[in-house]
Amino acid sequence: SPVGVPNLNQCELATDTSIIGPPTTLQLNCCLPIPSGSVVDFSFQTYQSAVKRVRMPAHKATADYIAKYTRAYEIMRSLPDHDPRSLSVQSKLHCAFCNGAYKQLGSNSAVVQVHFSWLFLPWHRWYLYFHERILASLLGDPTFSLVFWNWDDQRDGGNTMPAMFLNKGSSLYDQSRNAKHLPPNIVKLVPGSNGATSDIVKQNLNALYQDIVTSTTAETFMGGAFRDGTNVSSSSLATAPLGGSMENGVHNSMHFWTGDPTQPLYQDMGTFLTAARDPIFYAHHSNVDRLWERWLNGMPGGQRALPSDPDFLNAEFYFYDEAGRIVKVFLRDALDNNKLGVSYPDVPADDLWTHFSP
Ligand code: C2O
Repeated sequence: SPVGVPNLNQCELATDTSIIGPPTTLQLNCCLPIPSGSVVDFSFQTYQSAVKRVRMPAHKATADYIAKYTRAYEIMRSLPDHDPRSLSVQSKLHCAFCNGAYKQLGSNSAVVQVHFSWLFLPWHRWYLYFHERILASLLGDPTFSLVFWNWDDQRDGGNTMPAMFLNKGSSLYDQSRNAKHLPPNIVKLVPGSNGATSDIVKQNLNALYQDIVTSTTAETFMGGAFRDGTNVSSSSLATAPLGGSMENGVHNSMHFWTGDPTQPLYQDMGTFLTAARDPIFYAHHSNVDRLWERWLNGMPGGQRALPSDPDFLNAEFYFYDEAGRIVKVFLRDALDNNKLGVSYPDVPADDLWTHFSP
């Protein structure tokens, strides 16, 4: 059967262990606030607004848009730590369902783990959906949309840390990042890749080609089956048995490339515990989400297939909505961005990796 929502009253410390360098284990309280009032069941009727959100590339954002974005995170950061809409709770939501804070209902050992399996892409789409709605509502601007960090773009300037996230003192800044990876350094989608810029570009394109173009099935691209009772309790990326190529490949590379190597777990972006404290996280995941859509609809050879297993479609998750209420969603409702009102523009530079010849 599909994995269900956990009992939020039973929460433990979240844990992660380093996979690079000397083993260090970090524990964090990521227990989620339980607002009074009942859980809302997601429905398109209740949550749909007439607004279409078009997520634009971060490196093309205008000064006006950056000001608005900065303001949105300013407000989010200023909310009290127990407010479900605060950046603090938003980041705990990620930590809680990734590092073992909650057991699956009726299990003593299997934890809720939204990484390392077919849950990964849909869960993160839902996460962005509510995060974006919260920002829009805090700002009082229903048209507000996240940006995407276009790190796969190896031609038009998307493959460096976007300038909008780099101003010290800005709400979009996070001090726990790799200080040696500021622009003009370009991203390395293959960890440790070296050489001239043109070599790194080639390796980046090849990584994208391998992880997205040649990974043709849902199982290889999205990840393996995670059902009620599936136990991948290890929080370590090193043992991600069911993870798909998108997650284990370019997605993970970007987390470690961005995080601070002087921190034992490459915080903030290098561990699930803290990754979502950094506003760049949501832009990173918007790109992951965009590339998922591209994988589905934009590859040579035509449309690819999503899993049709009911244990996939009927998996359940909890999020907070813009009113701070707990909302219960089904995975299946996240499979079409159109229905969620979200879209991405065409990125011509995608062609570089889509048609890469290794
Ligand atoms: Cu929940 Cu990019 O990880």
